[in-house]
Amino acid sequence: MLFDHESAWADEQIYNKIYENSIKFPNEFWTHHIKDISWQKEPDSAFDEISEKWLSGGISNVCYNCVDRHALKNPNKPAIIWYGDEENDRREISFSKLLDIVTKIASILKSRGIKKGDVVGIYMPMVPEAIAAMLACARIGAIHLVIFAGFSAEALAYRLSSANAKVLLTINAFKRGGKEVNLSKNFDLLKSDIKIINLENLENYKVELTNEINWQNSEDDLFILYTSGSSGNPKKIVHSALPYMLYVTTTFKIIFGIKEDDVYFCTSDIGWITGHSYITYAPLFYGLTTVIFSGSPTYPTADRYWKIIEQEKVSIFYTAPTAIRSLQMFNKKFVKDHDLSLLRILGSVGEPINKSAWKWYFETVGNKKCPIMDTWWQTETGGIVIAPLRSLHQKPAVAGRPFFGIKTNIIYSELIIENKWPGICKTSKSHEVFKTGDGAIYDGNDIKISGRMDDVINISGHRLGTAEFECAINKINEVKESAVVAVPDEIKGQTAFAFVVLNDNKNSIPDIIKKIIKSTRNIIGPIAKADFVAFVPDLPKTRSGKIVRHLLRDVANNRKNLSEIHSVANPKAIEFAKIAASQAIFCPDMCRL
Ligand code: WT7
Repeated sequence: MLFDHESAWADEQIYNKIYENSIKFPNEFWTHHIKDISWQKEPDSAFDEISEKWLSGGISNVCYNCVDRHALKNPNKPAIIWYGDEENDRREISFSKLLDIVTKIASILKSRGIKKGDVVGIYMPMVPEAIAAMLACARIGAIHLVIFAGFSAEALAYRLSSANAKVLLTINAFKRGGKEVNLSKNFDLLKSDIKIINLENLENYKVELTNEINWQNSEDDLFILYTSGSSGNPKKIVHSALPYMLYVTTTFKIIFGIKEDDVYFCTSDIGWITGHSYITYAPLFYGLTTVIFSGSPTYPTADRYWKIIEQEKVSIFYTAPTAIRSLQMFNKKFVKDHDLSLLRILGSVGEPINKSAWKWYFETVGNKKCPIMDTWWQTETGGIVIAPLRSLHQKPAVAGRPFFGIKTNIIYSELIIENKWPGICKTSKSHEVFKTGDGAIYDGNDIKISGRMDDVINISGHRLGTAEFECAINKINEVKESAVVAVPDEIKGQTAFAFVVLNDNKNSIPDIIKKIIKSTRNIIGPIAKADFVAFVPDLPKTRSGKIVRHLLRDVANNRKNLSEIHSVANPKAIEFAKIAASQAIFCPDMCRL
């Protein structure tokens, strides 16, 4: 199954040749790779020019490709190795055992009346059953909707109801960093009559098992995932089953140059797209062992990742810059005490990686032998779009080259995609070029990503809309209105800076700040915290009353030359903002009050 892919992403000349061909004849490129999929009915070609559809006429099933076929061939090979909060919390799930768990969950769902096309919520931490739950949905043609276990009851309720989910798969609680995280208190708060299926004691569940697979065609959906856009509500992204599977698996195979005996460890969470594409679907599709971790990288000591890599003989490790930066602060000994010599490839995803983190990752973790795959992509793109070539002549912190079959361009500093690829989400309009919202620079060979251009903040690789923050802050009685902008943060990449206008009020500032923290935590989750708050009498606005956020961004970032001041109807507000920003309150201190 793993053929001719190893040099495609390593050698500049081979890359250039395949790339040029793939842009001229994308269908040929993709048709070559549909051979990795086990089909019930193989499509004639990857792209049907007349209907403009991917894999038209093809019939297969994502779960069959990720589980059944490996359970038949390699039943005892570990599919998932799980590590929990304590160092000896370890479980190994073979492909045959994974098939049993998936079959059980699929049977439970069927017994509860779940049919093809129904939406199934999954609110679970990184345990093998969570991955099995996703695969069980795929098996019966249900559409999974994973909600990050760190999201609040309100964020959970919004997603379940707006996607019209029929049931919620969950467990009561789990441990992270030595503390219990209670999920049941959140799902108990749900006001809807959604059925809750608790997967905590799966063995005790009595249900008649059914092995039936619901075969999927090119139009069927695999999952819904919410991400942040620039409007107040989370943005609903839908991915189709088969074209998405083709894209994530082909990118995985070629970009990481996988080999059959690779052990793969990605530290993301199924609550995000990385956990869908590159923890669950791509590695299992190729029958690789995927290592998952539900604990904290620094608990009980700051060497959890390195210890797992050593113990499991991990060869490909994929993490986020925010994790690298926080581990970089600890003594090198935490890394060097472990034998990481089997590591072959290192990956980074979620936000731009800065040079110092890149260097530490390359030298200290990779011992200067592992290329760093700085992979750029988005929930909307399904899988990796840009990555550096795997040669060791890499440029630190430069994402690199577009994947085969993808035509990128930079227009007014924004990265755009000019053609169609199988991983694109269904919700994107087919007639338009695909706008990424990210700034990019081209150096003649490679693309460097500079970060978001729109009203989205990337906190520790978690994409959050400034509008979501503002809605949460504006709910507080004492607040008249607010504007939230991004400022850089040494560990988290970016953090939120809130400009807040108060009503006449009698409450003290520390109390109001506590309310702000509580409201964003309740409405979005603990990751959504504004680290800085500045109180202003007024916000700069255009004549039509729109808040001029980019000016506030300049002010919060202490930039001297402010752009487009003339568009502001109340220029005094800019002066107020400058003074307030210089006296902004740092919220982590306030938490201790
Ligand atoms: C946004 C997408 C991609 C899966 C996880 C996040 C930023 C992502 C990189 C990178 C620079 C990156 C972009 C993008 N981003 N990877 N390698 N270099 N920026 O998916 O939540 O949809 O967020 O993350 O700003 O638009 P997401």
